[in-house]
Amino acid sequence: MNIFLLYFTGTYNTRFVTNKLRESLEKEGCTVTTYEIDPLNEEKLDFTPYDIVGLGHPIYGFATPWPFLRFVRKQKFPEGKRVFIYKNSGESYHENDASSKFVLKKLRKDKVKIENEYHFCMPYNIHFRYDDYLIKEMFSKNEKLMRILVYEVLNGIPNLKPYKLWPKVVTTVVAPFQYIAGDVNSFLYKVDMKRCIGCGLCIKSCPKHNIYKDAKGNIKFHHDCQMCMRCSFYCPVDAFNIGFLDDWGWRVNGGYNFKKIESLQVEKPIITSETEGFFECFKEKFENIDKRYNELFEQ
Ligand SMILES: Cc1cc2nc3c(=O)[nH]c(=O)nc-3n(C[C@H](O)[C@H](O)[C@H](O)COP(=O)(O)O)c2cc1C
Ligand code: SF4
Ligand code: SF4
Repeated sequence: MNIFLLYFTGTYNTRFVTNKLRESLEKEGCTVTTYEIDPLNEEKLDFTPYDIVGLGHPIYGFATPWPFLRFVRKQKFPEGKRVFIYKNSGESYHENDASSKFVLKKLRKDKVKIENEYHFCMPYNIHFRYDDYLIKEMFSKNEKLMRILVYEVLNGIPNLKPYKLWPKVVTTVVAPFQYIAGDVNSFLYKVDMKRCIGCGLCIKSCPKHNIYKDAKGNIKFHHDCQMCMRCSFYCPVDAFNIGFLDDWGWRVNGGYNFKKIESLQVEKPIITSETEGFFECFKEKFENIDKRYNELFEQ
């Protein structure tokens, strides 16, 4: 099978998931082409040579990131093309369930065959930093979910259920704010020049070319920001103030070392039936993955 994976990433979690997916599909003998969306490129893609197209995105504000939706809307998917969605995000509360709502609308308009959707858990790049051992546990569930995805997608087994009303309402209400939040928040971004070492990484890596050095050498911002957090997340000296997200205490700085995390040994599960509070959302998610995995592979 010839498979095309089209994805958007801010801080590279979706790139990580895409690479894992590519490896898993290649192990099954598929030929895989990946395409990372550049928000400044409006290229029209030709999907006709591919048997299946996978669309990958992180969740931003209970919806798809705006550059991803815009790019997908610009494409023309051939009628009857098999398409699936693989998304990822920091938590698995049901408010995230309908996050691909607007993408589905576009795909249905093009009359594609969209029957599969998978939600992977990846650590937050805003809000708060995840503990390495919890990430390792998420990765072990992701591995199972990946095997489920590959099996179901390659064998044409559908898994997409209609979205419930509450997640649909949340996505519809919050998405418009997310789509303009970056441009507005950009007015509030600041860099502490006493900390900044002038490495230029933020300027080089900003996908929107939204960051520049002024005549005095200070780091400044235009107002065209997709709020991906790549700049502040990877700043080596944590010199950013990310506007209203900073006021909420939501800045996360420093990339996760996934290679190291993958090699960790977990003695006992972190998410258990006793887990309460914020991480409770993972209980149901992990149970569902285990249940489906057992149905498919352990019976
Ligand atoms: C602006 C923004 C909004 C986000 N909103 C959500 C959200 O609504 N739900 C969630 O679970 N995670 C949310 N996240 C976390 C990301 O979905 C998560 O960290 C994801 O793995 C990032 O993927 P990336 O590195 O490919 O951009 C948000 C992150 C950003 C930057
Ligand atoms: S990444 Fe951080 S240290 Fe480097 S130029 Fe940007 S603000 Fe300064
Ligand atoms: S300014 Fe920062 S958050 Fe905005 S698009 Fe550039 S890298 Fe992403």
